[in-house]
Order: sequence, then C-alpha cells, then structure tokens
Amino acid sequence: MAKSRQVYVCDQCGNESLQWQGLCSACGAGDSLKAMTLAKIRPERRSLAARSDAPKRLSEVVEANEPRIVTGLDELDRVLGGGLVLGSVTLLGGDPGIGKSTMLLQAGDALSRVTSTLYVTGEESLRQVSLRARRLGLLGDTLQLLAETSIEAIVDQVQASGARVLIVDSIQTMHDAQVESSPGSATQVRETAAALVRLAKSTGVSVFIIGHVTKEGMIAGPRILEHMVDTVLYFESDAGSRYRLVRAVKNRFGAANEVGVFAMTEQGLKEVKNPSAIFLSHHPAPVAGSAVMIAREGSRPMLIEVQALTDEAQGMSPRRVAVGLESNRLALLLAVLHRHGGVSSSGRDVFVNVVGGVRISETGADLPAVLATVSSVRDEPLAGKVVCFGEIGLAGEVRPVPYGEERLREAAKHGFERAIVPAANAPRRPIDGLEVIGVERLSDALRGAFG
Ligand code: TYD
Ligand code: MG
Repeated sequence: MAKSRQVYVCDQCGNESLQWQGLCSACGAGDSLKAMTLAKIRPERRSLAARSDAPKRLSEVVEANEPRIVTGLDELDRVLGGGLVLGSVTLLGGDPGIGKSTMLLQAGDALSRVTSTLYVTGEESLRQVSLRARRLGLLGDTLQLLAETSIEAIVDQVQASGARVLIVDSIQTMHDAQVESSPGSATQVRETAAALVRLAKSTGVSVFIIGHVTKEGMIAGPRILEHMVDTVLYFESDAGSRYRLVRAVKNRFGAANEVGVFAMTEQGLKEVKNPSAIFLSHHPAPVAGSAVMIAREGSRPMLIEVQALTDEAQGMSPRRVAVGLESNRLALLLAVLHRHGGVSSSGRDVFVNVVGGVRISETGADLPAVLATVSSVRDEPLAGKVVCFGEIGLAGEVRPVPYGEERLREAAKHGFERAIVPAANAPRRPIDGLEVIGVERLSDALRGAFG
C-alpha cells in the first residue's frame, strides 16, 4: 500500500506542488499554498482501477438519449437540458439566502416520488429542514433526510439506503477524515467533491452539490470544483428582487447559458413560465438614462432594461462602473461613442446597470448601454416606446446579433412601437405594430433614438 504523502495545494486554483512556495506557480496567488496530507490509496479506488474494462466502440457506449429523470420543477429541468441525467454531478452555486436549499428541497421532494432520494444537510438541523418543508407545503413522506457532514458516512448511507439521487447541502460543511484541514477549506472542498464525483460515476447515483459563492463571485474553494462536475448552475439576481434566475454556466448534458426563471414566494420557488418582461421597470413617464433591450437569455428572448447615470466626476479619474455588463466593454463603448458618435464622457463618472441583477454577456447589449448613456448625458429620454439591441464595433459600425426577428416579435408582443436594431437584423416582412429602424452606424442609431 502506498504511503501517505505531503503536498501543498493552492487555496485559489487547486494546483498541487511538492514544495511550499510563497507564490502559487500556477495562478500566482500569494500565501495561498496549504499543506495537505494525501491519503493512502483507498481500497475501493484500487479495486475500481483493477477492474478497468476493455475499450468499447463509441456508438455502443450509450443509447441515443441519456436516461433522465424529471425533477418536478420545469424550469430546473430546462436548465439541466431536459431533466436530471443518471450518474451526473450538478453544482448549484449562489449567494447565501438566495434560495439554493429551498429549490433543492422542493426538487428533492418531487424526485423522491419517482426515485429514492436522500437530502443530506450539513448546515441545518433535521428539525429546521422539516419546518421549512412544512412551510413549503411539501408532504415529505418519501424524501429521506440525513444530518451529516462526514463524507465517508454519507457515501455509506447512500449505498446502504439504495438512494439514486443525493443532495448535499452544502459542500462547504463536508469533511473527509483523511484530510487534515477544516471544512470549507480548499482541500476539503476538493476532496469531498471528488468523493461525490467518484460515487456518482461508479454507482450511477445523481448528485446535487450546493456551494456558496463568495463575494468575488466564485464558489468558495478552488475553481477546480467547476471542472470536476458535469453541470454548474448559478443563481443570479438582486437580493431585493423576488425573481431568481438560474443559469447553466457549464453543462455536459445540455446547452450552456440556458436559464430558468423562478419567483420566490411564501410557498417557496414558483416557476415563471413566461418570463420575457419581468425585468422591465415600469416608469410612469419616459425617463432619461434608460433603454430597453431584447436580450436572448438561453433559448428565450427577454426584455431587459439597461440604465445609465452620468455625473460630473468627483475625483481626478472618472469612474466607469458596469453592473451586469463587463466593465472593459463599457470603457470600449465610451471610446467608440466619443470617436464615432461625437458624445464625450470625459470628466464624467459613468454608471451602467442592468435591472434585476441579471448579467448579460452577449454583445447585443452594446447599443442599449450606449443609448442609455447618451440619454443620461443629454438628460433626454429615448423617444417613444422603443427597444434596441446590437453589437457596436470599434469603427462605429452596428453589427447584427443572432435571432433578430425572434427578438423583434417578442418586443411587438409587449406593445413596443419602435425598434432600433442593426440593419442586417431588420426583418424582410414588416412586423405588425412595430416600426423597425435598421441602422448601419452608431451615428444613425443616435439620430433614430433622439430624432
Ligand atoms: P434558502 O433556500 O435558505 O437560501 P440558501 O440555501 O441559498 O442560503 O433561502 C432562504 C431565503 O428564502 C430566506 O431569505 C427566506 C426566503 N424564503 C421565502 O421567501 N419563501 C419560502 O418559502 C422559503 C422557504 C424561503
Ligand atoms: Mg441553504
């Protein structure tokens, strides 16, 4: 049997080195290497290695469709890519209090009606979980509950109880007795998650892992966790908003970037079946510094308000703050706006915010961000019930984005009357009730928006 050995693991990126160093050689983080004693090779791991199968033909490995179980929450099934895949490991991340435990308790209760399901809590007592279940109106007569933080005990319980779905709440409370550091540390998170991945892959149990996101927006513990699992789902939204977006940032069994939309209610999370207009704020009169865009979130169009505020800079260097959009992109857009739109923001702070805590990663948000900024600089609202989308290039050109016509139809459905969009996205046949202004250049867009 191999001896245990001492290695140093970086808290930030999970890189291993044999010697202690002040800076991690992989990610450059300072003072992040922690000593870790790697366990002896465990008997079950050995037997697995010894049982290595002969190679198979690719087409023989799985049937055309992965077998899936529906979770009982349609929006969760949607982000998972059509239900829970057997033997998959799914990480659900998000800020504390956003609804991770609530969602998986609801899903767990529904799953337990079709397959044996075990919910393990390391954060709350059995009593707390059961009180919550009662408040949620769940019967709870089929869901197995366990308060446990030892990963070995959990693996044993899964095998003893024959559970086919395991929910672990949360990975930061779990510990592996063979690792000499406290729960929540990078090494514990990594080793306990690895044990759960091994369990899933060797027995076909589907595992949900709950993980807290730190202030930096990363799951506490090494990033490596994201690489280990099959699917990574993140909750995003404002603390104040009652809507919750769950986004698949990685999915081996479905489309990445798909989103599910829920509303947090007294009875827990309820699916929002038709979410396209929930992120619009309703201003009684048009306001300056606001533009409505039609984004495509996952596989659906959604109307989202982008707001901008510009003000005389207080300090020497003006601030450029983007919430829900990339900050670098904002800096780039302001430069293009100056050179090709003739609107200067020098000496001014610029804040751009996407309403509802949504994060938009598509370049279709360029035009709305710029129009909202110009509207704030001029203190002049956009003319009429107008929507927009489009990418802006460094030469001041407005470039098309995918699914233009679908976006425009959604806008028309919600009563918008004008759309300022890339010329190449203008539909061939007119859309009832919607005047579409196709623009080639940023300057055309400014003329269209402000007359
Ligand atoms: P929770 O699932 O405990 O969050 P997490 O596990 O991500 O930390 O969610 C807790 C929040 O949700 C809490 O602020 C109360 C609220 N909530 C409701 O509004 N309605 C409900 O039915 C439940 C159970 C919680
Ligand atoms: Mg919780």
